[in-house]
Amino acid sequence: MTQDEMKKAAAWAALEYVSPNSIVGVGTGSTVNHFIDALGTIKHQLKGAVSSSDASSARLSELGIPLFDLNELEHIDVYVDGADEIDASMAMIKGGGAALTREKIVAAVAKQFICIVDNTKLVSTLGQFPLPVEVIPMAREYVARQLTLLGGEPRYREGVVTDNGNHIIDVHGLVITEPKELEQRINAIVGVVTNGLFAERAADILLMGTPQGVSRQQHV
Ligand code: 5RP
Repeated sequence: MTQDEMKKAAAWAALEYVSPNSIVGVGTGSTVNHFIDALGTIKHQLKGAVSSSDASSARLSELGIPLFDLNELEHIDVYVDGADEIDASMAMIKGGGAALTREKIVAAVAKQFICIVDNTKLVSTLGQFPLPVEVIPMAREYVARQLTLLGGEPRYREGVVTDNGNHIIDVHGLVITEPKELEQRINAIVGVVTNGLFAERAADILLMGTPQGVSRQQHV
């Protein structure tokens, strides 16, 4: 089974968590693209979607799925998104696709976060995947110096501008043993919009594609 087949299996398994006549939160990335295709097959049963990126919005619109502004909604039942890494406590690194800030906002409003991944994303300690940090452009070098003081090796993701008009710094070389603490410390640096640690708001359900099928895990 290829990595993409495992992503697809996890994505289609997430359909089970989408209730009829609901508004579903939709993340970003290649795994979520499979989920959007799956949503297309039940689009007439859906009220619509809230999207975490311009890229996902475009795919949802192509399928004729109505898009809602998050400000119009008090809550969303379910948010479905991928991850770059996830650990046993369901804390994640996200933002490989530079959509981390909107992803974190939609996840905050959702009652349930369903994380869909292939089995290469499960790690014992977060940090091998460089941690993305979205920064206000004029603060980029200042934030990079502060991130170095935290023990990381920041690298500017050249040529990338987020949907919010900001820059991304990827922090290499971190061994993240206290994800909640690091998430807060990085977010406290002036000029940081947010960072890709999703530990304060971890996933509730993990659907992981494996060669043996899709495994399910619930946050305890
Ligand atoms: C985008 C993300 C994605 O969820 C993450 O990068 C995983 O992507 P993929 O499903 O393509 O492996 O956080 O900002």
